[in-house]
Amino acid sequence: MAPRTVTARHFLSIQDVASDLGRLIDHAARLKAQRRRARLRPSLSGRNIALIFEKPSTRTRTSFEVGIHDLGGDAIYYSPKEMQLGRGETIGDTARVLSRYVDAIVYRAFRHDSVLELAGSSTVPVINALDDREHPTQIIADLLTLSERWKGSFKGRRLAWIGDGNNVLHSLMLGAALVGLDLVCATPESYRPLPEIVAVAREYGRLHGAELTFTDDPAIAATDADALYTDVWVSMGDEAETAKREKAFRGFQINAELLARAKPSAFVLHDLPAHRGQEITDDVLDGSRSAAWDEAENRLHAEKAILELLLAPDRLPRSSPARAWAPKLRARRPARR
Ligand code: CP
Ligand code: NVA
Repeated sequence: MAPRTVTARHFLSIQDVASDLGRLIDHAARLKAQRRRARLRPSLSGRNIALIFEKPSTRTRTSFEVGIHDLGGDAIYYSPKEMQLGRGETIGDTARVLSRYVDAIVYRAFRHDSVLELAGSSTVPVINALDDREHPTQIIADLLTLSERWKGSFKGRRLAWIGDGNNVLHSLMLGAALVGLDLVCATPESYRPLPEIVAVAREYGRLHGAELTFTDDPAIAATDADALYTDVWVSMGDEAETAKREKAFRGFQINAELLARAKPSAFVLHDLPAHRGQEITDDVLDGSRSAAWDEAENRLHAEKAILELLLAPDRLPRSSPARAWAPKLRARRPARR
Protein backbone atom coordinates (compact mmCIF):
# COMPACT_ATOMS: atom_id res chain seq x y z
CA MET A 1 0.00 0.00 0.00
CA ALA A 2 1.33 3.44 -0.90
CA PRO A 3 2.09 5.75 2.02
CA ARG A 4 -0.85 7.90 2.96
CA THR A 5 -0.22 11.60 2.49
CA VAL A 6 -3.20 12.80 4.52
CA THR A 7 -2.26 15.45 7.04
CA ALA A 8 -3.93 14.34 10.23
CA ARG A 9 -5.47 16.65 12.78
CA HIS A 10 -3.81 16.09 16.16
CA PHE A 11 -4.93 17.01 19.69
CA LEU A 12 -1.68 17.60 21.55
CA SER A 13 -2.65 20.78 23.38
CA ILE A 14 -5.78 22.73 24.26
CA GLN A 15 -4.43 25.19 21.68
CA ASP A 16 -5.20 22.61 18.97
CA VAL A 17 -8.94 22.90 19.70
CA ALA A 18 -9.01 26.61 20.50
CA SER A 19 -11.58 27.39 17.83
CA ASP A 20 -13.64 24.24 18.55
CA LEU A 21 -13.71 24.30 22.33
CA GLY A 22 -17.31 25.50 22.70
CA ARG A 23 -18.79 22.89 20.41
CA LEU A 24 -16.51 20.19 21.82
CA ILE A 25 -17.90 20.78 25.32
CA ASP A 26 -21.46 20.95 24.00
CA HIS A 27 -20.94 17.76 22.05
CA ALA A 28 -19.58 15.97 25.13
CA ALA A 29 -22.74 17.05 27.00
CA ARG A 30 -24.88 15.72 24.16
CA LEU A 31 -23.02 12.39 24.10
CA LYS A 32 -23.53 12.13 27.86
CA ALA A 33 -27.28 12.58 27.45
CA GLN A 34 -27.33 10.06 24.59
CA ARG A 35 -25.42 7.46 26.60
CA ARG A 36 -27.91 7.81 29.43
CA ARG A 37 -30.64 7.15 26.88
CA ALA A 38 -28.56 4.41 25.22
CA ARG A 39 -28.83 6.16 21.87
CA LEU A 40 -25.21 6.39 20.79
CA ARG A 41 -24.49 6.04 17.09
CA PRO A 42 -21.53 3.87 16.01
CA SER A 43 -19.42 6.65 14.46
CA LEU A 44 -16.20 4.64 14.90
CA SER A 45 -17.49 1.44 13.37
CA GLY A 46 -14.61 -0.32 11.59
CA ARG A 47 -12.03 2.04 13.15
CA ASN A 48 -9.09 0.85 15.26
CA ILE A 49 -7.38 3.08 17.79
CA ALA A 50 -4.00 2.37 19.43
CA LEU A 51 -3.42 3.43 23.02
CA ILE A 52 0.25 3.73 24.07
CA PHE A 53 0.70 4.44 27.77
CA GLU A 54 4.22 5.00 29.16
CA LYS A 55 2.74 5.79 32.58
CA PRO A 56 -0.05 4.22 34.65
CA SER A 57 -3.65 5.29 34.13
CA THR A 58 -7.07 4.39 35.49
CA ARG A 59 -9.38 7.10 34.13
CA THR A 60 -7.77 8.03 30.82
CA ARG A 61 -7.20 4.50 29.63
CA THR A 62 -10.61 3.25 30.74
CA SER A 63 -12.55 6.22 29.44
CA PHE A 64 -10.87 5.95 26.04
CA GLU A 65 -11.38 2.18 25.83
CA VAL A 66 -15.03 2.34 26.91
CA GLY A 67 -15.64 5.41 24.74
CA ILE A 68 -14.17 3.74 21.65
CA HIS A 69 -16.28 0.65 22.35
CA ASP A 70 -19.43 2.76 22.85
CA LEU A 71 -18.85 4.35 19.44
CA GLY A 72 -18.41 0.99 17.73
CA GLY A 73 -14.62 1.05 17.34
CA ASP A 74 -11.82 -1.18 18.61
CA ALA A 75 -9.04 -0.17 21.00
CA ILE A 76 -5.59 -1.77 21.17
CA TYR A 77 -3.69 -1.03 24.39
CA TYR A 78 0.11 -1.17 24.66
CA SER A 79 2.59 -0.45 27.39
CA PRO A 80 5.91 0.41 25.71
CA LYS A 81 7.45 -2.77 27.21
CA GLU A 82 5.15 -4.79 24.98
CA MET A 83 6.26 -2.91 21.87
CA GLN A 84 9.54 -2.74 20.02
CA LEU A 85 9.54 0.88 21.25
CA GLY A 86 10.72 -0.57 24.56
CA ARG A 87 13.70 -2.20 22.78
CA GLY A 88 14.84 0.92 20.96
CA GLU A 89 12.65 1.20 17.87
CA THR A 90 12.22 4.93 17.35
CA ILE A 91 9.03 6.80 18.13
CA GLY A 92 8.98 8.01 14.52
CA ASP A 93 9.21 4.50 13.08
CA THR A 94 6.51 3.33 15.51
CA ALA A 95 4.23 6.14 14.30
CA ARG A 96 4.90 5.36 10.62
CA VAL A 97 4.01 1.70 11.09
CA LEU A 98 0.98 2.19 13.37
CA SER A 99 -0.38 4.75 10.87
CA ARG A 100 -0.64 1.92 8.33
CA TYR A 101 -2.85 -0.11 10.69
CA VAL A 102 -4.88 2.18 12.90
CA ASP A 103 -7.05 5.29 12.57
CA ALA A 104 -5.75 7.23 15.59
CA ILE A 105 -3.15 6.94 18.35
CA VAL A 106 -3.77 7.95 21.98
CA TYR A 107 -0.41 8.52 23.65
CA ARG A 108 0.52 9.09 27.34
CA ALA A 109 4.20 9.97 27.50
CA PHE A 110 6.78 11.09 30.01
CA ARG A 111 8.05 13.81 27.67
CA HIS A 112 6.12 16.28 25.54
CA ASP A 113 8.88 15.95 22.92
CA SER A 114 7.93 12.28 22.52
CA VAL A 115 4.33 13.25 21.79
CA LEU A 116 5.52 15.81 19.22
CA GLU A 117 7.79 13.19 17.65
CA LEU A 118 4.99 10.64 17.36
CA ALA A 119 2.63 13.23 15.86
CA GLY A 120 5.36 14.42 13.50
CA SER A 121 5.60 10.99 11.88
CA SER A 122 1.97 9.88 12.19
CA THR A 123 -0.45 10.22 9.30
CA VAL A 124 -3.36 9.52 11.65
CA PRO A 125 -4.55 11.77 14.50
CA VAL A 126 -2.54 11.65 17.71
CA ILE A 127 -4.22 12.50 21.02
CA ASN A 128 -2.09 13.60 23.98
CA ALA A 129 -3.30 11.50 26.91
CA LEU A 130 -1.00 13.44 29.32
CA ASP A 131 2.65 14.38 29.16
CA ASP A 132 4.89 16.57 31.28
CA ARG A 133 3.54 19.73 29.64
CA GLU A 134 -0.21 19.29 29.22
CA HIS A 135 -3.20 17.09 29.98
CA PRO A 136 -5.67 18.44 27.42
CA THR A 137 -8.26 15.64 27.44
CA GLN A 138 -8.68 16.16 31.21
CA ILE A 139 -9.58 19.79 30.70
CA ILE A 140 -12.39 19.03 28.24
CA ALA A 141 -14.00 16.92 30.99
CA ASP A 142 -13.33 19.64 33.57
CA LEU A 143 -14.97 22.35 31.47
CA LEU A 144 -17.93 20.05 30.91
CA THR A 145 -18.21 19.56 34.68
CA LEU A 146 -18.04 23.29 35.36
CA SER A 147 -20.51 24.02 32.58
CA GLU A 148 -23.00 21.51 34.02
CA ARG A 149 -22.78 23.05 37.48
CA TRP A 150 -22.99 26.61 36.20
CA LYS A 151 -25.81 25.94 33.72
CA GLY A 152 -23.63 26.53 30.67
CA SER A 153 -22.24 29.94 31.56
CA PHE A 154 -18.69 30.73 32.68
CA LYS A 155 -19.36 34.47 32.68
CA GLY A 156 -18.44 36.16 35.95
CA ARG A 157 -17.18 32.90 37.51
CA ARG A 158 -13.84 32.49 39.23
CA LEU A 159 -11.99 29.21 39.58
CA ALA A 160 -9.15 28.87 42.09
CA TRP A 161 -6.28 26.47 41.46
CA ILE A 162 -4.45 25.32 44.59
CA GLY A 163 -1.12 23.52 44.07
CA ASP A 164 1.45 22.71 41.44
CA GLY A 165 2.00 24.70 38.24
CA ASN A 166 1.96 21.45 36.31
CA ASN A 167 0.62 19.79 33.14
CA VAL A 168 -3.00 19.96 34.33
CA LEU A 169 -2.72 23.65 35.20
CA HIS A 170 -1.11 24.41 31.83
CA SER A 171 -4.08 22.95 29.96
CA LEU A 172 -6.54 24.49 32.43
CA MET A 173 -5.08 27.99 31.97
CA LEU A 174 -5.55 27.72 28.21
CA GLY A 175 -9.04 26.23 28.44
CA ALA A 176 -10.30 28.65 31.11
CA ALA A 177 -9.07 31.65 29.12
CA LEU A 178 -10.77 30.39 25.95
CA VAL A 179 -14.18 30.09 27.63
CA GLY A 180 -13.85 33.44 29.43
CA LEU A 181 -13.42 31.97 32.92
CA ASP A 182 -11.30 33.86 35.46
CA LEU A 183 -8.60 31.70 37.03
CA VAL A 184 -6.59 32.53 40.13
CA CYS A 185 -3.70 30.19 40.85
CA ALA A 186 -2.10 29.66 44.24
CA THR A 187 1.25 27.95 43.75
CA PRO A 188 4.53 28.13 45.65
CA GLU A 189 6.70 30.78 43.98
CA SER A 190 9.12 28.17 42.57
CA TYR A 191 6.34 25.94 41.13
CA ARG A 192 4.64 28.44 38.86
CA PRO A 193 3.52 27.28 35.41
CA LEU A 194 5.71 27.83 32.34
CA PRO A 195 5.83 31.55 31.39
CA GLU A 196 5.34 30.77 27.69
CA ILE A 197 2.03 29.01 28.42
CA VAL A 198 0.98 31.80 30.79
CA ALA A 199 1.62 34.25 27.92
CA VAL A 200 -0.59 32.28 25.50
CA ALA A 201 -3.33 31.92 28.12
CA ARG A 202 -3.21 35.66 28.83
CA GLU A 203 -3.53 36.39 25.11
CA TYR A 204 -6.58 34.09 24.93
CA GLY A 205 -7.92 35.80 28.05
CA ARG A 206 -7.50 39.19 26.42
CA LEU A 207 -9.58 38.00 23.47
CA HIS A 208 -12.27 36.25 25.50
CA GLY A 209 -12.51 38.40 28.62
CA ALA A 210 -10.81 36.19 31.20
CA GLU A 211 -8.26 37.07 33.87
CA LEU A 212 -5.37 34.86 34.93
CA THR A 213 -3.69 35.80 38.19
CA PHE A 214 -1.16 34.24 40.59
CA THR A 215 -0.52 34.25 44.30
CA ASP A 216 1.48 32.11 46.71
CA ASP A 217 -1.35 32.23 49.27
CA PRO A 218 -4.09 29.57 48.92
CA ALA A 219 -6.38 31.60 51.23
CA ILE A 220 -6.29 34.57 48.84
CA ALA A 221 -7.07 32.35 45.85
CA ALA A 222 -9.93 30.56 47.60
CA THR A 223 -11.68 33.63 48.99
CA ASP A 224 -15.05 34.09 47.22
CA ALA A 225 -14.11 31.57 44.51
CA ASP A 226 -16.91 29.75 42.65
CA ALA A 227 -14.91 26.50 42.55
CA LEU A 228 -11.58 25.15 43.80
CA TYR A 229 -9.35 22.74 41.86
CA THR A 230 -6.29 20.83 42.99
CA ASP A 231 -3.95 18.09 41.77
CA VAL A 232 -1.20 16.00 43.33
CA TRP A 233 1.92 17.63 44.73
CA VAL A 234 4.11 14.99 43.04
CA SER A 235 3.19 14.21 39.44
CA MET A 236 4.23 11.06 37.61
CA GLY A 237 7.86 11.56 36.63
CA ASP A 238 8.56 13.95 39.54
CA GLU A 239 9.04 11.21 42.15
CA ALA A 240 12.75 12.01 42.66
CA GLU A 241 11.64 15.39 44.08
CA THR A 242 9.08 13.92 46.50
CA ALA A 243 10.66 15.14 49.76
CA LYS A 244 11.34 18.63 48.38
CA ARG A 245 7.85 18.93 46.97
CA GLU A 246 6.09 17.66 50.10
CA LYS A 247 7.84 20.45 51.99
CA ALA A 248 7.17 23.16 49.39
CA PHE A 249 3.46 22.30 49.04
CA ARG A 250 2.62 22.00 52.73
CA GLY A 251 -0.36 24.33 53.19
CA PHE A 252 -1.46 23.96 49.59
CA GLN A 253 -4.32 21.72 50.64
CA ILE A 254 -8.04 21.94 50.00
CA ASN A 255 -9.58 21.29 53.40
CA ALA A 256 -12.76 22.43 55.16
CA GLU A 257 -11.11 25.62 56.37
CA LEU A 258 -9.99 26.65 52.87
CA LEU A 259 -13.33 25.66 51.34
CA ALA A 260 -15.11 27.85 53.92
CA ARG A 261 -13.42 30.88 52.33
CA ALA A 262 -15.05 30.14 48.96
CA LYS A 263 -18.63 31.04 48.08
CA PRO A 264 -21.25 28.88 49.87
CA SER A 265 -22.18 27.44 46.47
CA ALA A 266 -18.56 26.58 45.61
CA PHE A 267 -17.55 23.02 44.81
CA VAL A 268 -14.26 21.18 44.44
CA LEU A 269 -12.56 19.60 41.44
CA HIS A 270 -9.72 17.07 41.49
CA ASP A 271 -8.55 15.29 38.34
CA LEU A 272 -7.62 12.23 40.45
CA PRO A 273 -5.87 10.10 41.55
CA ALA A 274 -5.85 11.94 44.89
CA HIS A 275 -3.21 11.76 47.57
CA ARG A 276 -5.65 12.00 50.43
CA GLY A 277 -4.25 14.02 53.32
CA GLN A 278 -1.85 15.90 51.06
CA GLU A 279 -3.47 18.17 48.46
CA ILE A 280 -7.01 17.36 49.64
CA THR A 281 -8.62 16.02 52.80
CA ASP A 282 -10.94 13.01 52.97
CA ASP A 283 -13.89 15.07 54.22
CA VAL A 284 -13.70 17.45 51.25
CA LEU A 285 -13.10 14.82 48.58
CA ASP A 286 -15.89 12.61 49.94
CA GLY A 287 -18.18 15.48 50.91
CA SER A 288 -21.26 16.91 49.26
CA ARG A 289 -19.27 19.73 47.67
CA SER A 290 -16.94 17.39 45.79
CA ALA A 291 -17.44 17.37 42.00
CA ALA A 292 -14.49 15.03 41.50
CA TRP A 293 -16.63 11.95 40.80
CA ASP A 294 -18.75 13.71 38.17
CA GLU A 295 -15.50 15.06 36.76
CA ALA A 296 -14.10 11.53 36.49
CA GLU A 297 -17.27 10.30 34.78
CA ASN A 298 -17.10 13.20 32.37
CA ARG A 299 -13.76 11.93 31.07
CA LEU A 300 -15.78 9.27 29.20
CA HIS A 301 -18.04 11.75 27.46
CA ALA A 302 -15.15 14.12 26.74
CA GLU A 303 -13.00 11.37 25.14
CA LYS A 304 -15.88 10.46 22.82
CA ALA A 305 -16.36 14.08 21.78
CA ILE A 306 -12.61 14.39 21.09
CA LEU A 307 -12.56 11.18 19.05
CA GLU A 308 -15.52 12.34 16.99
CA LEU A 309 -13.98 15.79 16.46
CA LEU A 310 -10.89 14.12 14.96
CA LEU A 311 -12.43 11.08 13.24
CA ALA A 312 -16.10 11.90 12.60
CA PRO A 313 -16.29 15.71 12.67
CA ASP A 314 -19.69 15.79 10.98
CA ARG A 315 -21.12 14.49 14.26
CA LEU A 316 -20.36 17.77 16.02
CA PRO A 317 -22.72 20.73 16.00
CA ARG A 318 -21.47 23.57 13.80
CA SER A 319 -21.83 26.11 16.59
CA SER A 320 -23.40 26.44 19.99
CA PRO A 321 -25.62 29.52 19.97
CA ALA A 322 -27.37 28.36 23.12
CA ARG A 323 -24.21 28.80 25.16
CA ALA A 324 -23.85 32.28 26.59
CA TRP A 325 -20.08 32.04 26.33
CA ALA A 326 -19.85 30.39 22.91
CA PRO A 327 -19.91 33.59 20.84
CA LYS A 328 -16.81 34.72 22.72
CA LEU A 329 -14.93 31.85 21.18
CA ARG A 330 -15.46 33.39 17.79
CA ALA A 331 -15.71 37.12 18.39
CA ARG A 332 -12.71 39.29 19.13
CA ARG A 333 -13.38 41.32 22.25
CA PRO A 334 -11.63 44.49 23.34
CA ALA A 335 -8.77 44.02 25.81
CA ARG A 336 -9.69 44.49 29.47
CA ARG A 337 -6.23 45.60 30.54
N1 CP B 1 -6.96 12.08 35.74
C1 CP B 1 -6.29 11.13 35.05
O1 CP B 1 -5.73 11.36 33.97
O2 CP B 1 -6.28 9.91 35.67
P1 CP B 1 -5.48 8.63 35.22
O3 CP B 1 -4.01 8.90 35.48
O4 CP B 1 -6.03 7.53 36.07
O5 CP B 1 -5.70 8.40 33.76
N1 NVA C 1 -0.32 16.00 37.34
C1 NVA C 1 -0.61 14.59 37.45
C2 NVA C 1 -1.89 14.29 36.79
C3 NVA C 1 -2.33 12.85 36.90
C4 NVA C 1 -3.59 12.57 36.16
C5 NVA C 1 0.51 13.78 36.84
O1 NVA C 1 1.05 14.18 35.80
O2 NVA C 1 0.87 12.77 37.41
